[in-house]
Amino acid sequence: MTVVRVALDARSYDVVIENGLLARAGEHIAPLARGRRVPIVADANVGPHLATLQRSLDTAGVPHEAIVIPAGEKSKSWATLEQVVDRLLDLGVERGDHVIALGGGVIGDLVGFATAILKRGCGFVQVPTTLLAQVDSSVGGKTGINARAGKNLVGAFHQPKLVLIDPQVLDTLPPRELRAGYAEVVKYGLIDDAAFFAWCEENGAALLAGDPSRREYAIAHSVAAKARIVGEDEFETLGRRALLNLGHTFGHALEAEAGFSDRLLHGEAVAAGCALAFGYSAVRDLCPAFDAVRVSAHWQAVGLPDGLAAAGIDAPADRLIEHMRHDKKASGGQIPFLLARGIGQTYLDRNVALADVGNFLAMQPR
Ligand code: GLY
Repeated sequence: MTVVRVALDARSYDVVIENGLLARAGEHIAPLARGRRVPIVADANVGPHLATLQRSLDTAGVPHEAIVIPAGEKSKSWATLEQVVDRLLDLGVERGDHVIALGGGVIGDLVGFATAILKRGCGFVQVPTTLLAQVDSSVGGKTGINARAGKNLVGAFHQPKLVLIDPQVLDTLPPRELRAGYAEVVKYGLIDDAAFFAWCEENGAALLAGDPSRREYAIAHSVAAKARIVGEDEFETLGRRALLNLGHTFGHALEAEAGFSDRLLHGEAVAAGCALAFGYSAVRDLCPAFDAVRVSAHWQAVGLPDGLAAAGIDAPADRLIEHMRHDKKASGGQIPFLLARGIGQTYLDRNVALADVGNFLAMQPR
């Protein structure tokens, strides 16, 4: 078992990572529940995990009530938020109570936001069931829903009280989703940990094939990296937390072009976006060309897209640039880019000329 502390003064909490943890989740939740009923919000895809969680709560003597909502991005909506909040109010949830979010990033973001606004804030516990949620979205307190104008445009920073990660639940995740989540693991190596990127080159394929100890190690290492960065810049005001957006600006343009659909999963767009960020950094002589080649080679080795062609995007450069302009990170017409001086040396550059990025994108094979 690994316990990572997210150190945020009064908002500090533990992330517990262990194979098989879901069956013992009740022991960890009981001290927070203090005899009160604990609502569980889960998506319709995680039925077997919900049953395991409910059994563990029964064993620990924690009363519970499940609220099951449809799986998928459509649930990150005002309508589902209203339904969840009303159900929680019907259940009599109070400020000192805790709600469990069991599922992937959609559930974590939705329940996190619901509990941020319910009675001006009550507690919640993240029990993420996808690799992407385990290594990224369940830690750090970004919560929210989508709006008509775009994804994640309505939300709040609201930290969970506890995160319970059981890598074994990934056994039932579709391989494509597992690979997409793995892109966010590798991202931590690319940001500021070249040794971890080298570990991924060596061990990534085995991890994706299901090796339990490599999976647990990679998740714990990723969570520790995220905890460190969030601890330094909780509200993304100092330029530190923004590093977690590596690959996201290029990736956002690709996702938008794919209509935010299953044609290109978020993690796949991030993988292609990281390859483009390194490729662009190499073209500008900021980063050794060999490092950009290593990034692409690793994505190819594990079956993730390493650019526009592999992501199935053939849009002209000006359309991709237009998507970037609508990225929520744009400010005063300027878009902050995460560029690299090498593997493990990502930095934030607020002075990138979009026309220059457009020329680079125009040169990319379609
Ligand atoms: N997923 C990026 C962040 O938590 O800041």
